[in-house]
Formats: sequence, C-alpha cells, structure tokens
Amino acid sequence: MMPIPRIDEQRLWASLMEMARIGATAAGGCRRLALSDEDRAARDLYIAWCRSAGLTIRIDRIGNIFARREGRNPSLAPVGSGSHLDTQPHGGRFDGVYGVLAALEAVRTLNAHSIETEAPLEIAVWTNEEGARFAPAMLGSGVHTGAHDLDFALTRRDRHGVTVGAALERIDYAGPEPCAGHTYRAFFEAHIEQGPILEREGLTIGVVTGVQGLDWYDLRIGGEDAHAGSTPMAVRRDALTGAARMIIAIQDIARDKAPHGVATVGEIHASPGSRNTIAGAVELTLDMRHPDARMLSDMGSDMRSECAAIARRNGLELTVESVEHAAPVAFAPACVASVRNAAEALGYPLREMLSGAGHDACHLAEVVPTGMIFVPCAGGLSHNEAESATPADLAAGCNVLLHALLDYAASAP
Ligand code: GLV
Ligand code: MN
Ligand code: MN
Repeated sequence: MMPIPRIDEQRLWASLMEMARIGATAAGGCRRLALSDEDRAARDLYIAWCRSAGLTIRIDRIGNIFARREGRNPSLAPVGSGSHLDTQPHGGRFDGVYGVLAALEAVRTLNAHSIETEAPLEIAVWTNEEGARFAPAMLGSGVHTGAHDLDFALTRRDRHGVTVGAALERIDYAGPEPCAGHTYRAFFEAHIEQGPILEREGLTIGVVTGVQGLDWYDLRIGGEDAHAGSTPMAVRRDALTGAARMIIAIQDIARDKAPHGVATVGEIHASPGSRNTIAGAVELTLDMRHPDARMLSDMGSDMRSECAAIARRNGLELTVESVEHAAPVAFAPACVASVRNAAEALGYPLREMLSGAGHDACHLAEVVPTGMIFVPCAGGLSHNEAESATPADLAAGCNVLLHALLDYAASAP
C-alpha cells in the first residue's frame, strides 16, 4: 500500500470553527443541547459535508447518524469512528464534535488521495451523549449496542417533560432505520482529554486504555412548605437545608476515596422557589465516578445511608433513584496497540491513560473491539466555554485516527 498521507490540519480546524458557530455563546463556547434547534442545525451541516464527501447517510430511530464510505468489499463489517455533536449548556467547541469531524477529515484525506479501503468506513454521530438535557448520557450509542431498549430511550424526559421521542420528531431526526442490526470490525473515537495530564507532561497523544465507572442518581428530598417569617427554626422541615447537608456529606464520601473518587451535585431544583417560603421539596442530580467498580459501589451505598440519616435527623423524606450505571471499561488490547503503534510511527510523544469522562466508545466496547485517542486541551478544562485545543494537537490526533482506521480497514481480515 502507498504511504499513509497526513490529514489537512487547516481543513480540520476550519470545519471545527464553522461548526462552532452553531450555538456559539458570547463567552466563546457552544450551547447545542441534544435535539434542540442548534443540534438540528449541526446535524444538517454535518450531513451536507458528508454528502459532498460522497458518503451515504442512514439515520436510525434514536437519531444516530451513520455516514458510510464504501469499501472494495461491501460485505465486510465497516470500521467505525465518531462521537457526538451535542454539548453541555455551557459547552466548548471540541468535546464530541472533534471526534466526529476528525473522522470526517480522515475520510476527506482518503478521498483527496484516492485511497480505497477493503472494508467500508462508517462515521457515527450518537444522539444525546452529554446527558445534560436527557438522562442517561450516551443514550444513542447505548441503544445501538443494546444496553438500552429503544422504548426506554424514547420515553426519557427533559426537565420540561419533553420526551426524547417528541424532541426527535420535532427536529426531523427520528430516522427510519432500525437501531443496531449492524456491527463494526472495530471502533475508534478521538476526543480531547478533558483533563490536565497530557498538557502537564508535555505529551501529544493519550493512548486510552479504559474509562472509569460512573453512577448517576436523582435525589428527591421532601419537607414542608411554610412561612419564612412565622415558622420557628425548631419545627421547620426545610428540604433545602437538608439538601445542603447532603451535598457536603457526598463531597466527604468522594474525598474518602481520594485520589480517584469524584462526586458532583450539578443541579438543585428547590420548590416552590420563593424567598419567603421554606422550600418543601428539592431535587438534586448526583454524578459519582471511580475507576474501581467496588469502590464506586461503596460510594453509592455510603451516599444512600448518609443521606437517609440526614433526612431522618431533619424530619425529611428522601428517595434516591439510580438513573445511569456505567461500569469501568477496558478497551480491546488490539485497538490500544493500534493507537499506540500509530502514534509511535508518527513520532508523537504519548502515554497510556484512563479516561475520567464517559464516552460513546464505552458502549461500543461492550460489543466490538474499541479504542480511543486523546489530545491535550488547555488547562485540562472541559464542560466550559473556554475549552481549547491547538490545531496542531487536533491534527496529530486525527493522523493517529487515520492510521488506526487503516490498520483495520485497509486489508481483508
Ligand atoms: C460526558 O460528557 C461525561 O459526563 O463524562
Ligand atoms: Mn464528549
Ligand atoms: Mn461532555
């Protein structure tokens, strides 16, 4: 085979910047919540780019988009790559979208050099990876791999009661294709690291060996609405004060599992939401993570028992609902080796590492050999409008991706 060409750094950067205009925020980030008008606009633009690259588009019933570049042997399972186009409410320009547009840039490079592959290539855009609007996160990839039923996914609701199914119909992305029904020979996802390690160590490529485990919970705390002026402190059933005590207890549970345990209460919804009424009901969202499954499960049990004790002491009711569980993931050694070999061949400084963030690749890893490629981001900052990465590092990750894809797709198995 001819030598593998380098991807076009400027073309990749220009596409990232053009996509970043959709849902652009004043602070330089992006707000493209899953299945919003901005998500639709991003999908439309991406599909237009795929069509001009000669790719065939299919959309499944959960709104996942598959863009296929045919291989010499169409009967072979495609080699897959991709990520997500949705963002956090105060999201950046790279989380997710980089993995999608890096895969597209790999295909554009093959087109520019008239390189055919034996196996087809397929780029996937997975629906609702972030989980910011609809829980659980990584929803579309989870339906694809069978981790979630389609009906379960379509009936998830956002905070305003809108279901995933209705939101998909509204933006015209409830596709006709059945979910799943096809598989990959291997799957690779490129992503910014979203943590500080590569930058701190002056490295270009993270060869991702696995992903830490994650548990999401909704906590509902019940007290009693009452007058803020005339209700003595001793008789109040103040759900918000109970929530505050629980939040502190949860931080301590994570700190007990240092350095790996992390726990985040990211949302508080207090009802009725009036300065002079004691809050009679509060909902908290909770995200807990640890690379070790046993430790993660212990964190969950400690949270349940300590929050129940706080509720009891303060005359409150508590329900804890588990809304997502993702076990720690180990990527396929062959895919990890493929990424490492590519980075070495290209001369990029690298290290192996675990991902702190969740990714669609976690679901893919349940069913096909999967690997991930990380590139540094400034200050390790992500889920922040200031999220930033250099064109050169993004290009390096894309070159590694192209090599890894060709490793699997160039010849017959
Ligand atoms: C995905 O963005 C995650 O929360 O890890
Ligand atoms: Mn992401
Ligand atoms: Mn994210």
